[in-house]
Amino acid sequence: MFLWALFLIALTASYLSFQIFVDSGSRYFTSSWGGIHWEKQVRTSAQIHRQNGKVVLVTGAAGFVGTHVSLALKKRGDGVVGLDNFNSYYDPSLKKARRALLTSHNVFIVEGDVNDAKLLAKLFDVVAFTHVMHLAAQAGVRYAMENPQSYVHSNIAALVTLLEACKSANPQPAVVWASSSSVYGLNEKVPFSESDRTDKPASLYAATKKAGEAITHTYNHIYGLSITGLRFFTVYGPWGRPDMAYFSFTKNILQGKPITVYRGKNRVDLARDFTYIDDIVKGCVASLDTAGKSTGSGGKKRGAAPYRIYNLGNTSPVTVPTLVAILERNLKMKAKKNVLDMPGNGDVPFTHANISLARRELGYKPTTDLPTGLKKFVRWYLSYYGYVPGKVVN
Ligand SMILES: NC(=O)c1ccc[n+]([C@@H]2O[C@H](COP(=O)([O-])OP(=O)(O)OC[C@H]3O[C@@H](n4cnc5c(N)ncnc54)[C@H](O)[C@@H]3O)[C@@H](O)[C@H]2O)c1
Repeated sequence: MFLWALFLIALTASYLSFQIFVDSGSRYFTSSWGGIHWEKQVRTSAQIHRQNGKVVLVTGAAGFVGTHVSLALKKRGDGVVGLDNFNSYYDPSLKKARRALLTSHNVFIVEGDVNDAKLLAKLFDVVAFTHVMHLAAQAGVRYAMENPQSYVHSNIAALVTLLEACKSANPQPAVVWASSSSVYGLNEKVPFSESDRTDKPASLYAATKKAGEAITHTYNHIYGLSITGLRFFTVYGPWGRPDMAYFSFTKNILQGKPITVYRGKNRVDLARDFTYIDDIVKGCVASLDTAGKSTGSGGKKRGAAPYRIYNLGNTSPVTVPTLVAILERNLKMKAKKNVLDMPGNGDVPFTHANISLARRELGYKPTTDLPTGLKKFVRWYLSYYGYVPGKVVN
């Protein structure tokens, strides 16, 4: 009996040590983080170069918005550390080119997944982040029908992992994160205001952002995390996202390929409150600057912390045919348009932001109209892809 017990204990112990070996071994072989050199890169990137500067962890830093926000913070002297998993939802070479841009400005992007709790704990161990700018997400409304799990992975599970890390950090950072105008779903009252109901999502993407607003509220309520949720309205501009209409339209027009223009019920044109990236960046930075402190420590709240939600839009919706006409003017080429009825797969007929709250509390004031912003986008596109008229673009 005694020998049997001894044998079982020995077996369990060797199994556990094997698991630890496998765990650390797999991390050693598969992960691209850790080590003295890595820690030095993280610390250097986090260094502040102005008085009362912030130290910000930017998730999704190799993404469109993340790159611009990281640059803006670094340029004014804040410490910035990026985090991105460089997934292949769209061409990762564009994410790598954005990383190269950030590297040239001394911003280091850690390659890893927000779901990696050990990595987050390590980052908070190495750097006392004052703020987290959470922009990592699975974006896009139509892709949710192809790969729904990626939305659960990046917009729900990763958010909880991140909030757990923030809750346990000492001191706790203030969290600013990207929700979306898509939470307004099928609402018909315009313009969309923060106090409107958001219980008619039209896509799984929208539903995960709505869930994010509820999840962040819980962490604010229980653990005293300072939370600011930003509902972005169709952001566009240089270094933008290839899956978005203005980007793919530009590519197809240049290649002489047809573009699909959807229209809504009764042949009404779809319209979007297109918001230029520099305006969004100003809104993000103002949110970080005005975010009150988190109040918890050791997993306990010491008092109420701010919970804020703002629309960041442009307040002047433009129809999709007008967007196409502006692109045609800039590219000096005609689009071959296929006009189709909008399928019910996630898109909404229009978006229009009421930005009074952001104007009042953040001093947010968008200044770039669509023709001006698209001109800058087209200039970037042509130089980035090295387009020469008459040559096929890839
Ligand atoms: N661009 C818009 O028009 C718009 C509108 C509304 C809301 N948003 C939101 O703003 C944020 C930024 O959007 P964007 O346009 O820059 O998108 P993006 O796809 O360019 O950037 C997101 C980045 O996050 C990374 N990422 C995704 N899942 C991750 C994970 N689990 N771990 C680590 N990294 C991960 C991706 O690799 C990508 O680089 C997102 O939360 C998005 O939902 C964007």
